[in-house]
Amino acid sequence: MQLAGKVAVVTGGAQGIGRALCERFAAEGLKGLVIADLDLPAAENAAAACSGLPIRCDVSNEADVQSLVSRTLAEFGAIDLFCSNAGITVKGGLEASNADWQRMWDVNVMSRVYAARAVIPAMLNQGSGYLLQTVSAAGLLTEIGSAGYAATKHADLAFAEWLAIEYGRSGIRVSCLCPMAVSTAMIDHSDSIHQYLNVSAISVEDVAESVVRGIEAEQFLILPHQHVAEYFQLKAQDFDRSNRGMQRLREKMLRRRRAA
Ligand SMILES: NC(=O)c1ccc[n+]([C@@H]2O[C@H](COP(=O)([O-])OP(=O)(O)OC[C@H]3O[C@@H](n4cnc5c(N)ncnc54)[C@H](O)[C@@H]3O)[C@@H](O)[C@H]2O)c1
Repeated sequence: MQLAGKVAVVTGGAQGIGRALCERFAAEGLKGLVIADLDLPAAENAAAACSGLPIRCDVSNEADVQSLVSRTLAEFGAIDLFCSNAGITVKGGLEASNADWQRMWDVNVMSRVYAARAVIPAMLNQGSGYLLQTVSAAGLLTEIGSAGYAATKHADLAFAEWLAIEYGRSGIRVSCLCPMAVSTAMIDHSDSIHQYLNVSAISVEDVAESVVRGIEAEQFLILPHQHVAEYFQLKAQDFDRSNRGMQRLREKMLRRRRAA
């Protein structure tokens, strides 16, 4: 899909990857851009930089997502691209609280269900539409240090795959953006695991460029870090070998954490 003349909504658009998507999409000559975020002042700031319409929205609240979609349709008459980008991570394994698991489930997974429910009927009426889900390489591989992030990002990818199969023949395209580390506020520089991931961190501008190319090509998987495709292939060929490799990596990261 070409972005020129289209209407796009980006959740979590106030900062990080979402803001870079807004700026890069705006450069393609959109007809309309909505920047949705929990943080309205930050969304207003981002909107001023790329002529967007800022809307406060908590993506984990279905009524907020429905109102985001209806306000966008009222303002611009269509939604061609809906980017479910807002996401959170909370560290921890078995000790992570149920409340933290629930928060990640609501923001990383249910938000995508609410968005699809709200926007797909309008896209079916238009005969076309595009959903971009910001997943993570953690959705294809895993996230050492956060069980909840690994599980919810797998669920995000699984739901996107289901949508692509269910609605692909009805003109709806789906892409999953699956980067490894990206230099944003999500990276915790005080944590040795994140420090390790940060070595291969790329910029938000590089991610946004990959997204525009991926949407043009209508690719299901958008992988700004090319080696994620190789790791995913290795895992598909030999899951046990992949798990052993991840166990070694985990040991290495924990040694660094202990030494810090
Ligand atoms: N940074 C990375 O290394 C990395 C790597 C892979 C995937 N991701 C994914 O990219 C997406 C964006 O992350 P980022 O790194 O730009 O993070 P970020 O923290 O810089 O930005 C996230 C934005 O989402 C907003 N947000 C958070 N909860 C929200 C909610 N309930 N409703 C609406 N907005 C909400 C925040 O206000 C913020 O503006 C997330 O889905 C994340 O999981 C990030």
